[in-house]
Amino acid sequence: MVKLAEQRARWDSRLIFLFAAIGSAVGLGNLWRFPYITYKFGGGAFLIPYLIILLAIGIPVLILEFALGQKMQQGAIGSFRKINRRFSGLGFLAAFVCFVVVAYYAVVMGWSLIYMLGSLHAPLPWSGEPEKFFANNVLQRSAGIGDIGSLSVALVVALAAVWIAIFFCVFRGVKSIGKAVMVSMPLPFILLVILFLRAITLDGALAGIAYYIRPDFSLLLSGELWLAAISQVFFSLSIGFGVLIAYGSFNPLRQGITRNAFVVALADTGLSLLAGFVVFGVLGHMALVQNVPIEDVVKSGPSLAFAAFPQALSLLPLAGIFSLVFFVTIFFIGIDSAFSLVEGVTTVVRDRWRRIAVPLVAFIVCGIGFISGLIFTTGAGLYFFDIIDHYVNSYLLVAVGIVQCILVGWVYGAEKMRNYINSVSRMKIGRWWDVCIRWVIPLSLGILMAMQFITDIRAPYEGYPQWAQAIGWGIIILPLAIALLMAFLPSRPSPAAQR
Ligand code: PFF
Repeated sequence: MVKLAEQRARWDSRLIFLFAAIGSAVGLGNLWRFPYITYKFGGGAFLIPYLIILLAIGIPVLILEFALGQKMQQGAIGSFRKINRRFSGLGFLAAFVCFVVVAYYAVVMGWSLIYMLGSLHAPLPWSGEPEKFFANNVLQRSAGIGDIGSLSVALVVALAAVWIAIFFCVFRGVKSIGKAVMVSMPLPFILLVILFLRAITLDGALAGIAYYIRPDFSLLLSGELWLAAISQVFFSLSIGFGVLIAYGSFNPLRQGITRNAFVVALADTGLSLLAGFVVFGVLGHMALVQNVPIEDVVKSGPSLAFAAFPQALSLLPLAGIFSLVFFVTIFFIGIDSAFSLVEGVTTVVRDRWRRIAVPLVAFIVCGIGFISGLIFTTGAGLYFFDIIDHYVNSYLLVAVGIVQCILVGWVYGAEKMRNYINSVSRMKIGRWWDVCIRWVIPLSLGILMAMQFITDIRAPYEGYPQWAQAIGWGIIILPLAIALLMAFLPSRPSPAAQR
């Protein structure tokens, strides 16, 4: 173990690890998903379930993942394998989820690159008809998932640029990531504060913000709301992906854990709240200027950040500059999340095949990521994005979350892990953590998955055709089958186990 610990790449400092973990957590999920979900599920009232889930599930799992990687000094596959050989497939599942998510995450960043260039034109190319610009010029969207259309050349070029950027961030592993996060983590915070100051000084901003945080407690009893809170916490904190296990594995064995987890959760939640103020402040201004009710300007999903919000920005003085600031923010907020997802994959590959040079692993993973992402640059790209995102996040991610808690809580032993965490951390955790890991999280996630399954069986997701649903199911069943095979096939000992 000592030898292994010596050889492993290391973060240059504890601060850099913290920057990298915050950079991974803070991403597109904070900037456009959180404001919209909060608004959809009762405004201010949504914060109550969100904070409960954050405390009861988010932070305990965050601590677990940091601790697991740090204790085992391995990425997801190696860490699970060290607890029980049959569970290495769980690490494979996590890496698979990373790969799928980064394939479309990079495409969203590609959209932001196109908008960044567009911001340099006066008048802004989307002003007046933002939805049309997004659908026709950026996505070249087809009529439905059955009509694949053609590749959008601009998007393919933008996607290639994003992947080149990701490659340069990860090509030397933690060394290059450590340098990249020094810029990519703080920059979006600074830019968002600038946007916030601009937003709250606009006429109509307060009405928009009031609309965003006005509580509607009647929704608190809806199961859907709690499901939304759980999936938002998982996605936003980057948990269940094995990425934070990989990041933790580059820490020395005896580094503090608990306080880092709280800092990451605080930074992530703070940024989400700030993003909500910015988005709804600016939309409130647009509603006032256009003299329409605010519910008419709020859009769901990608359209919020890529149609409604750009349109609202185009109405401001110095519209080009603020648009540029916004899309640069999206790009930088996304890049450290994207490369952390890549690192989730490259770490397990490197742990397994130590002889392959680090840059080569990065090159292969980025190359395959780019090619896989091409499907999302077609006319039907947004539909594929929607369906794949739904199935992977609702089932695979949740399954990883459940099994990893069972594995650590019951097989390894929650108390044993807690003793390790407390032995290295100044801030101590109590028995509540064991209860969360052993009971609360597996049970609540199990219920979540069962409810989602019933919903999906009753009504096919978003009414997409059967063959498209089959792709969604296939994308979860195939890796599950591989994970099971890994559990039951005899295999040679891992390089780590040989030492
Ligand atoms: N947390 C990121 C966001 O909120 O956008 C997304 C993400 C990044 C999820 C990295 C998972 C991950 F491993």
